[in-house]
Amino acid sequence: MDTVKRGDELRARIAQWKRAGERVGFVPTMGNLHNGHFSLISTARENSDHVVASVFVNPTQFGPHEDFASYPRTLIQDKEGLEKAGCDLLFAPDIEEIYPFGVANMVRVDVTGLSEILDGAMRPGHFSGVATVVAKLFNLVAPDVAVFGQKDYQQLLVIRRMTSDLRMPIDIVGAPTVREENGLAMSSRNQYLTAEERQRASVIFRTLNAMRDAVRAGQSLADVESGANIALQTAGLAPDYAVVRRPDDLRPPGTGDRSFVALIAARLGNARLIDNMLFNV
Ligand code: PAJ
Repeated sequence: MDTVKRGDELRARIAQWKRAGERVGFVPTMGNLHNGHFSLISTARENSDHVVASVFVNPTQFGPHEDFASYPRTLIQDKEGLEKAGCDLLFAPDIEEIYPFGVANMVRVDVTGLSEILDGAMRPGHFSGVATVVAKLFNLVAPDVAVFGQKDYQQLLVIRRMTSDLRMPIDIVGAPTVREENGLAMSSRNQYLTAEERQRASVIFRTLNAMRDAVRAGQSLADVESGANIALQTAGLAPDYAVVRRPDDLRPPGTGDRSFVALIAARLGNARLIDNMLFNV
């Protein structure tokens, strides 16, 4: 697996594959890779002839008091893992390559509406930073297919809406969430937790299961949501939200709805954890 830092080099490599009529799959990441990320590489492999990954800790998606400076950077280990997982080419650009005019003068991509609720309300500007960097990466890689984790469900919807509305000819594939044995969704931010907190964080997955079961049993969504908040608080977590929404637009469900997504965001120790579960009744 080769690593390139410059966009023109990246384009030249990919153009060779495209000229041969081969399909290109793409997995964008911020590095500090774990099995959740590597499963996306496998999914991309199944859907393409060549897999490109990117590692770029994107400053514009972090809020002023968030963990941009301390976000774990582990490029040497990441390269080893990517190679084993079957990645063909890694794009690991410097910030100037992605924001040549500086972040103060950048063009912004805003997926309005969807970016302002739930995590977007808790983290103003976050999804604009995500959509902007992914649009830039898509323009550089020009993939046929790109793979995103369902773990970041709202992000997946934002990217789907962006590609669709900007008429980008890219298939967006959502890949299932990879979990620790105790149910905790794998995340680079789990390393902000102590061993004891990691155990305690498994309440999130248990609560998502309980929310699904309660909706299926016919409990009102208001009761399901307040029960979930209490379960999280009882385990010592501080929930930002625990809600049941429609899977296509994250709006509150109506009476005829049969498909749902339960979503939780909660703070524990030094980490903010998110997870979700799709289900039908
Ligand atoms: P990052 O947090 O590094 O995640 C990269 C991709 O891995 C995302 O699509 C995310 O949903 C997926 N992922 C993370 N944990 C996962 C798990 N446990 N199971 C399955 N997939 C998982 O998400 C970002 O980076 C950034 O916002 C990015 C899209 C790269 C834009 O900067």
